[in-house]
Amino acid sequence: MIITKKVLRNVSLTAHPEGCRRYVEDQVAWVKAHAQESKEASYPQAASLALPKRVLVLGGSTGYGLSSRIVAAFAGGADTINVSFEREPSENKTATPGWYNTMAFEALARKAGCKASSVFGDAFSTEIKKETAKRIREELGKVDLVVYSLASPLRTDPQTNVTYRSVLKPIGQPFGALSVDLDSDVVKSAVIEPATDEQVEETVKVMGGEDWSLWIDFLLAENLLADHAITVAYSYIGPRITYPVYREGTIGKAKEHLEKRAATLEQKLKTIGGRAFVSVNKALVTRASAVIPVVPLYMALLYQVMKERNLHEHCTQQIYRLFTTNLYSGNPILTDEQGRLRVDDWEMLESVQKEVERRWALQKEGESLKEGDLAGVQTEYEQIHGFGFPDIDYSKDVDPRAI
Ligand code: NAI
Repeated sequence: MIITKKVLRNVSLTAHPEGCRRYVEDQVAWVKAHAQESKEASYPQAASLALPKRVLVLGGSTGYGLSSRIVAAFAGGADTINVSFEREPSENKTATPGWYNTMAFEALARKAGCKASSVFGDAFSTEIKKETAKRIREELGKVDLVVYSLASPLRTDPQTNVTYRSVLKPIGQPFGALSVDLDSDVVKSAVIEPATDEQVEETVKVMGGEDWSLWIDFLLAENLLADHAITVAYSYIGPRITYPVYREGTIGKAKEHLEKRAATLEQKLKTIGGRAFVSVNKALVTRASAVIPVVPLYMALLYQVMKERNLHEHCTQQIYRLFTTNLYSGNPILTDEQGRLRVDDWEMLESVQKEVERRWALQKEGESLKEGDLAGVQTEYEQIHGFGFPDIDYSKDVDPRAI
């Protein structure tokens, strides 16, 4: 079949197997090159670092989780297990990009001598936790690092069987702001109605720290965490302009909950000398972030400003920097006053934010986006689904099941 890009309301419905493979290969090549020899202080050589050798990534098929898996395997030589929710391909329907990425990653990892396998299913369920425990026992023995990188619109509580849905809304009052879609460069205005109290609670149930805690409790009880094991979950804060819909909105409440859970988990992990962290990462185009209102416009301006200053990073560079210059640098782990790791430091530089704010004020409804890199955001969005690579012939007939 000829696989074409199909995007509906910033959600891509298709993925290209050859392009997803290329997306993974490019990240692997970057990590390998820097791990072996690097002249950049921000991305040091990894050979002399004690990176974790057995890694579980929850949500390791796309975005930050996939990059965590790639850095663990190709900078640290780790054996990895991924847990993610995927649709497999059929004769005339493509798989999710996460499925293609996973097949591509696992083939490359095994070729490099690392164990790599996946448990596909609902990470929130007890059944998948049990299946993962079995897999860890069989393949890794125990794990040294658990990365929590799930982003989901819904979660069924395994104890009550009630399904909760997360929403991306402000709290208290409507939020009117400018925005752009990924398939047009015309700025539009959007008003987002505030969430009900119930929606706030539901979003915290889905994207807060409850499931992260369940995972760590379960792995501790099953004796599957190695001595000094670390767990890290990812969070976002962002600038004042997006506060009403992000940090002070429903998702922000969930992130606050996640961040507070890190302290509880740290206490629990004391029995094995382990640690629990939240890492605040940079805004980047992923399947999860593209659907947050206002965020694509912010990212278009941010990308341009950061590229002009040579500060732009992708998920891989973010995670490589997190692992090699902080979590596993061999020096004491650096956190902010709330105990969080910060790799959003370059995004949040005052000079960067001031310039983004200046450009934000230039935008007008119904006009084209000014002084931003919407093309860069669009290309990245295409590439995370395997499209937009100039040397791949997208008019070629491909079997969606072949990778
Ligand atoms: P993503 O959409 O690329 O990845 C989400 C992962 O979760 C995928 O592997 C998906 O298969 C998996 N997943 C979703 N529901 C699942 C389920 N029920 N069971 C098993 N797996 C499931 O998202 P992204 O952006 O990489 O987000 C990961 C984390 O990073 C989130 O906590 C997000 O808030 C955080 N973050 C994202 C930023 C961004 O700008 N993209 C910035 C800072 C933090």
